[in-house]
Amino acid sequence: MKLAVAGGTGTVGAHVVEVARERGHEVVVLSRSAGVDLVTGTGLSDALSGVDAVVDVASTQTVSAKESTAFFSTVTRHLLAGESEKGVGHHLALSIVGIDRAPQSYYAGKVEQERIVRSGTVPWTILRATQFHEFAAQIRARASFGPVSIIPKMLSQPIAAREVAERLIDLAERPPSGRVADLGGPRRERMAQMVRGQARAIGKRALVLEVPVPGAYGRAMRDGTLVTSAGADHGTQTFEDWAAAQSR
Ligand SMILES: NC(=O)c1ccc[n+]([C@@H]2O[C@H](COP(=O)([O-])OP(=O)(O)OC[C@H]3O[C@@H](n4cnc5c(N)ncnc54)[C@H](OP(=O)(O)O)[C@@H]3O)[C@@H](O)[C@H]2O)c1
Repeated sequence: MKLAVAGGTGTVGAHVVEVARERGHEVVVLSRSAGVDLVTGTGLSDALSGVDAVVDVASTQTVSAKESTAFFSTVTRHLLAGESEKGVGHHLALSIVGIDRAPQSYYAGKVEQERIVRSGTVPWTILRATQFHEFAAQIRARASFGPVSIIPKMLSQPIAAREVAERLIDLAERPPSGRVADLGGPRRERMAQMVRGQARAIGKRALVLEVPVPGAYGRAMRDGTLVTSAGADHGTQTFEDWAAAQSR
């Protein structure tokens, strides 16, 4: 198959590209560093020639609901329009467990992304996953001041990005399936502990201050809204094993 991976240079995107190539698929990367801007649409139409399925794992780093919604709605509309024009038969989007119960901040954009995909004309699949193990490093990078990291009080059920990528390629190889079973990690973890563990694994010192984020979004982070419920599938690599592998 020929697959296009929107955000193919990102945290999960790099794994998606790797897994797809390992399985013998032809891969086109849609990202700014590969010459395709999904916000302006530059380079998109040509890149979608001959593509069978698009895996959308593009993202933006923001906690603003307005910015997130603008990004995900623009990117999704551009992708779906390009796919329609080129006859691409499958749009596959990666979303996040629990977003409809916490439709604020960054998640506002994810809710809108799902809505646009569902109401579009391109046959689709939506997979919701929990936070990646890599999220600990992403959040530490954004919220550190010297050795001090200010981390939201958050209950997560992290999963290896590689395992999410494998599931995405499994799904891309099948016909469009609509909303499929959620995918989470094997254990529930506190984000502050993950950040400490990730820093330790790469030989860094992290003084972690765990703070409750105010409002409904913060409550959802703390109260288990973002972990899996009955019917979900689960990966196998624990955060501890993943962090140990990073240190080697
Ligand atoms: N992080 C998590 O824990 C987690 C958990 C569950 C689901 N998700 C979902 O997984 C997806 C990927 O997240 P991630 O953390 O892997 O993202 P990421 O590491 O921040 O990567 C973002 C990707 O998007 C590309 N991108 C950004 N702006 C672009 C633009 N204007 N045009 C084209 N490409 C653009 C980036 O490439 P360039 O900079 O080269 O353009 C990069 O490849 C998102 O939909 C996210 O909501 C994330």
